[in-house]
Amino acid sequence: MNKTVVVKISGKWINPEKPTIIGEYARVLNKLHGEGYRVAVVVGGGRVAREYINAGRSLGLSEAMLDLLGIAATRLNAMLFTVILDDLAYPDVPRSLEEFLQAWSSGKIVVCGGFQPGQSTNAVSAVIAEAIGAKLLVNATTVEGVYNKDPRKHPDAKLLRELTVDELYNILVKEQHPTAGGYELMDPISLMIIKRSKLIVKIVNGAKPENVYKAVKGGNPGTTIKPE
Ligand code: UTP
Repeated sequence: MNKTVVVKISGKWINPEKPTIIGEYARVLNKLHGEGYRVAVVVGGGRVAREYINAGRSLGLSEAMLDLLGIAATRLNAMLFTVILDDLAYPDVPRSLEEFLQAWSSGKIVVCGGFQPGQSTNAVSAVIAEAIGAKLLVNATTVEGVYNKDPRKHPDAKLLRELTVDELYNILVKEQHPTAGGYELMDPISLMIIKRSKLIVKIVNGAKPENVYKAVKGGNPGTTIKPE
């Protein structure tokens, strides 16, 4: 059984505004580690990233520079989580896939934020999963899962329990605005990597860290994306 897992946690859940939930995530990762899972964690930028990006945009910065501001916020959140995990985690936040692999060889949980402009932390989590041979990527997001249309605009939107990566592409591309801070649930790069490496992605509501545990243990509290 493949016990290597990548967990992407929205920056809404790992940031200094909500210390309680960070502790709950640390307990879930500790439990998985104790059960013999190897876990790589990718943390998003949350509100702080959006604030810097919005400020930079109003000052006329390019999308690339705005992405760099977003990446800085993701790394700060990743550092916070690394420190909370203490001895369980590699004590530095990798800035590239090469640095990640170096850190991964320590045998510890490795926590990262962004890698490079033009993508979101979802793409980072997908490329890490591909590189370390993980078959499962759990995405702890701010919604219950994937809907057939944007639930913020359409009150009759339905939660989908299972779909293929191509079906997800068709739903997301219509709503997609790939700009800094606006890469939405999955950016195009992450979808491409998920497809080519045949990853299974479980999208769960990260408000309850236990959902991540359930997803790793074979449950499906949200939406499961299958290769085909
Ligand atoms: P995310 O959009 O991935 O984090 O990164 P988030 O705010 O937590 O979003 P969710 O809730 O996980 O979806 C914040 C910003 O950092 C930049 C992008 O501008 C992104 O919107 N970023 C992140 C990059 O440019 N490259 C990366 O590899 C990662």
